[in-house]
Amino acid sequence: MRLFPLLPLAVMLLSVAQGVIPAPQHISYNPAVQLPPPPQVEGAYSLRYDARDGQWRVNANDDAGRRHAALTAASLERENGGTPPAYVAVCDYPLYAWRGLHLDVSRHFFPPEVVREYIDRMAELKLNRLHLHLSDGPGWRIEIKKYPRLTSFAAWRKDLGVEDWDWPTIQIGPDYPKIEGGFYTQDEMRALVQYARGRGIVIVPEIDMPGHSYAAIAAYPEIGRADFPQQGLHGGDVMDVANPRSLQFAQDVLTELMQIFPAPTPLHLGGDEVDPRFATPEQQREWMQKLVDFCRAHGRDAIVWDEAAANGVQRQTTMVWHAAGTEKIFQSGSPLILCPCSHFYFDCRPTEDDPGTVPTVTTLQKVFEYPVPQGNILGIQANLWTEHITTRERLFHLAFPRAAALAERAWGSPNRPFADFLKDLKR
Ligand code: ACM
Repeated sequence: MRLFPLLPLAVMLLSVAQGVIPAPQHISYNPAVQLPPPPQVEGAYSLRYDARDGQWRVNANDDAGRRHAALTAASLERENGGTPPAYVAVCDYPLYAWRGLHLDVSRHFFPPEVVREYIDRMAELKLNRLHLHLSDGPGWRIEIKKYPRLTSFAAWRKDLGVEDWDWPTIQIGPDYPKIEGGFYTQDEMRALVQYARGRGIVIVPEIDMPGHSYAAIAAYPEIGRADFPQQGLHGGDVMDVANPRSLQFAQDVLTELMQIFPAPTPLHLGGDEVDPRFATPEQQREWMQKLVDFCRAHGRDAIVWDEAAANGVQRQTTMVWHAAGTEKIFQSGSPLILCPCSHFYFDCRPTEDDPGTVPTVTTLQKVFEYPVPQGNILGIQANLWTEHITTRERLFHLAFPRAAALAERAWGSPNRPFADFLKDLKR
């Protein structure tokens, strides 16, 4: 571990860090107390300030650790009225390598400046993975040079108004009197990737396949089922997995994503909620396995939603969103990212009196008290689906401060009482 003064980074971060950060694993204000050294995990650090030498000192193995140390130092100064305490020592490390927040930019598109703000807020909380849901039935959001209609056509739709999610009436295309939508050019996305990387965050792209593909099929009908009209229904907008053209399409898209999202960024392939009338579980498994293997042949890890793992897809990381019935997946040995809809779906209303239209309430306390199960857990993540979110204000209202409670779970301190967290938050 390297020992060096921390001052310039801390000063830079002081100007941006306003949120409550996860409580350190160990903290002491008593110079006589010896803290344990941090374990050798990415992002771990130890930190000390002693007024007698007048400098923050940090031990960290990597940039992530130094960034985390600077955030903690800034927070300790803020708590102490803007100056460091006479003495403080910290030993801290994340529990999970994957500390994720998701953003659905398909149902409603959010421009790069909003994504940058989202990244800033995530970085303050020491979260490190932004999962961008870049395609779904209602819109395709990333420029793919080989398939220009994905963005000239399928990034736009007739403006239905926020509450009108009558799926069969969704009309894709730019030629309506009133349209909504948008997309990221490859250059814009590269800039976002760089911006996030500078803040310790990896942007993980998802192309949701073979279901949730209404927009893509509207642009390129040949990847859909000619014998089965696409209804734009949840679960019923499925690529034709028996047609080699749809596999080629998927591989072409992934090939371009690999140019935008540098190795070793994993690629999320979707795989959720596929109506078996459109593709049998066996067909889905075969098709998805080919894509997972394609990613691996190109040196990338692939991520799939838990339905694909339940179908028998192998050699991938699995994102578990179902809150029950996932025992088989836990036993499969696949690395797991847990984002159960019971605790980590931030489109759910945060309070009973919240005016949102999603009926389920998921309180800050519920997020905070998620009992992370034992298993091959790579990390945890909260998901923010945007069917009912049209404004930046609503987006941030739903994401924060619940993301701070998620960060607490990702950084450990499992014995911290909720009241203690709430006190910090209020301050
Ligand atoms: C999901 O909520 N369909 C992943």
